[in-house]
Amino acid sequence: MAARVIDGGKIARKKRDEAAAGAARLKARGITPCLGVILVGDDPASLSYVRGKERALEEAGMTGRDIRLPRDVTEEKLLGIIKELNADRLVHGILVQLPLPPHIREDRVITALDPAKDVDGFHPVSAGNLVLGRRGFLPCTPRGILALLEEMKIPTAGAHAVVVGRSNLVGRPLANLLTRRDLNATLTVCHTGTVDLGSYTRQGDILIAAAGKAGLITADMVKDGAVVIDVGVNRVPVPGGENAAAGAYRLRGDVDFEGVSKKASYITPVPGGVGPMTIAMLLLNLLRAAEDLCAPAPAP
Ligand code: GUN
Repeated sequence: MAARVIDGGKIARKKRDEAAAGAARLKARGITPCLGVILVGDDPASLSYVRGKERALEEAGMTGRDIRLPRDVTEEKLLGIIKELNADRLVHGILVQLPLPPHIREDRVITALDPAKDVDGFHPVSAGNLVLGRRGFLPCTPRGILALLEEMKIPTAGAHAVVVGRSNLVGRPLANLLTRRDLNATLTVCHTGTVDLGSYTRQGDILIAAAGKAGLITADMVKDGAVVIDVGVNRVPVPGGENAAAGAYRLRGDVDFEGVSKKASYITPVPGGVGPMTIAMLLLNLLRAAEDLCAPAPAP
């Protein structure tokens, strides 16, 4: 059976339109959602992500406050900038592009964000709210994956979901969300310490690969008819010759698309699957932040 390919670009477009409609409603009240975007250094991958986010903001009628800092910026300077953005009433969300250079402690930087502006959902308060099932910002990639499943009408209740990867950005939050009462999946989390990975992945009705290892999941590791969500964004150098020397690369997922798409019922491609959803969810998180921060004060 050939899998249905989930068009993340199309679903993300719908979500971006929702965000734009929300931004237009706020604009009628004189509010333009604004995201402070901090990029340290000039890593090409980070630069390309940040540009993509800024383009999406503009297209949705939102704005970005771009802050570019040199690679050798001090932690204190960065913390000072975050403090200013926290206090700035015209800034509704703050995004610090990760990874940061090794001399800057990521934990300190993320914890310095005002949780009310934590549209990435990385702050410990956001993570705690997620685990406790309270209202808060969900990290964009896990939220995007849930939106894909919902839009494709793929039920999670009663399904055995197998998540490969336990990162703070994707695997861990996703595992928590999938076991929420309204989603009701039964869960297995696999990671680098898992022995015989395939014996677990073959049990997954929904298999989510977020390990950051190109081609890790092959057809023999997938249950017939499984829903396969590929979160991997691995830059694989194009082999041979001058292109490789110049840094040419191809994006590859964690899933061997060729093989697995013959066995799965649904599959997300890379690129064009989960990736576009992440940006769409950032816009929706920013919209929520602006709505909450600018909510009229309750009547006395
Ligand atoms: N680096 C890779 N993904 C992300 C993301 O979603 N947010 C931020 N801030 N940095 C990232």
